Amino acid sequence: MIIITTGVSQTTSNTISSVGSSLSRNSHFSAASGGGSCYEAFPNGQILPTPNLRIFTFPELKNATKNFRIDTVVGEGGFGKVFKGWLDEKTPSKSRSGSVIAIKRLSSESLQGFQEWQSEVNFLGRLCHPNLVRLVGYCWEENELLLVYEFMQKGSLENHLFGRGAVVQPLPWNIRLKIAIGAARGLAFLHTSDKQVIYRDFKASNILLDGSYNAKISDFGLAKLGPSASQSHVTTRVMGTNGYAAPEYVATGHLYVKSDVYGFGVVLVEMLTGLRALDTNRPPGQHNLVEWIKPYLYYRRKLRSIMDSHLEGRYPAKAAFQTAQLALKCLESEPKSRPSMKEVLETLLHIESSKEKPREPRNRSTNPRAHRHSQQPLHHRSPLHPKLDSYRANHSSYLQGRPTA
Ligand SMILES: Nc1ncnc2c1ncn2[C@@H]1O[C@H](COP(=O)(O)OP(=O)(O)OP(=O)(O)O)[C@@H](O)[C@H]1O
Ligand SMILES: [Mg+2]
Repeated sequence: MIIITTGVSQTTSNTISSVGSSLSRNSHFSAASGGGSCYEAFPNGQILPTPNLRIFTFPELKNATKNFRIDTVVGEGGFGKVFKGWLDEKTPSKSRSGSVIAIKRLSSESLQGFQEWQSEVNFLGRLCHPNLVRLVGYCWEENELLLVYEFMQKGSLENHLFGRGAVVQPLPWNIRLKIAIGAARGLAFLHTSDKQVIYRDFKASNILLDGSYNAKISDFGLAKLGPSASQSHVTTRVMGTNGYAAPEYVATGHLYVKSDVYGFGVVLVEMLTGLRALDTNRPPGQHNLVEWIKPYLYYRRKLRSIMDSHLEGRYPAKAAFQTAQLALKCLESEPKSRPSMKEVLETLLHIESSKEKPREPRNRSTNPRAHRHSQQPLHHRSPLHPKLDSYRANHSSYLQGRPTA
């Protein structure tokens, strides 16, 4: 739980630490590029002693986004709209230059939104790793709460797997594997760092991609510190996203480091099949991807029938099968039976290193997913506890919150 005080935040032992006065509104960060390339100095990641963030003024961010003009919006989530902005603009607007940033603007003053904002600043502000998106800074003025990130050119994995239209090209197999490896590295870093961090919201929309499809995990609004050495889990209110959340966590509120591994398994299945973790537009019995597809993952022939048709059969069959077996391990119902993220990463690297040629396309008439191109809302999230009440009111795919564990 986060205790709010005036002007600064204090945290209990469940957050990464109190950032206290280091988040004073007068603190300044030197460069427009915020934390700079901290991970160039620490390629294997680092947890900084204090958040290394620039504090922006609201007019600065207004200017960066042409007054939050609608054509600068690149997405929207539970926190609010996400804008593309330009810093240090010295040139006329037609040829904008300078650092490109992504700005999230809280859409209401809900307490939940504020907590999420604080958690992002407390966690992500101190985390530095090539596979975690960089938080450049924030703005906290009057009724405005904003977060400023490095801009991720290729958007989210979700957009690439499920987006429609010509704008988004389907991802080839090798890029999917590269993204899985990057995301696994990010999670493994969180899990093995001194202060073990449980991410709690692993899903395709929180995996962002730079211009070279390097994956970076974003959104630390739900992150928690892991259990003390004598404990196997932390007990917490059930939050997250339906379809991705681990069964033990949903049932009991017991959050394990391995609960993240379950979410990773779900994303692997999404990458294999091109199907959403949860989709109520699918026929009854198929809404939950894992429950529906799991039996297909055990056998090579069955797996072939459920592989993403966007791959057009161009994937190495053995590697796909090995990835499916890895996904099954991640999806074990007992947290203890799941591999660690370090083991997951090693397996993915092993799969990548075997230079198997992609198989030739085949007739796939037995595909059980005849409906897969049915119209689906692009923004399709269902947090167990919606992050913003106002957002829930406007998005029917949000589910009612579950009782506190
Ligand atoms: N740093 C960024 N660079 C570029 N695009 C971004 C960045 N952060 C977010 N986006 C875009 O904005 C979209 C919305 O992101 P956001 O994190 O607000 O919501 P979400 O992850 O889709 O949903 P939820 O609120 O449930 O986590 C993303 O899907 C992505 O396309
Ligand atoms: Mg997100």
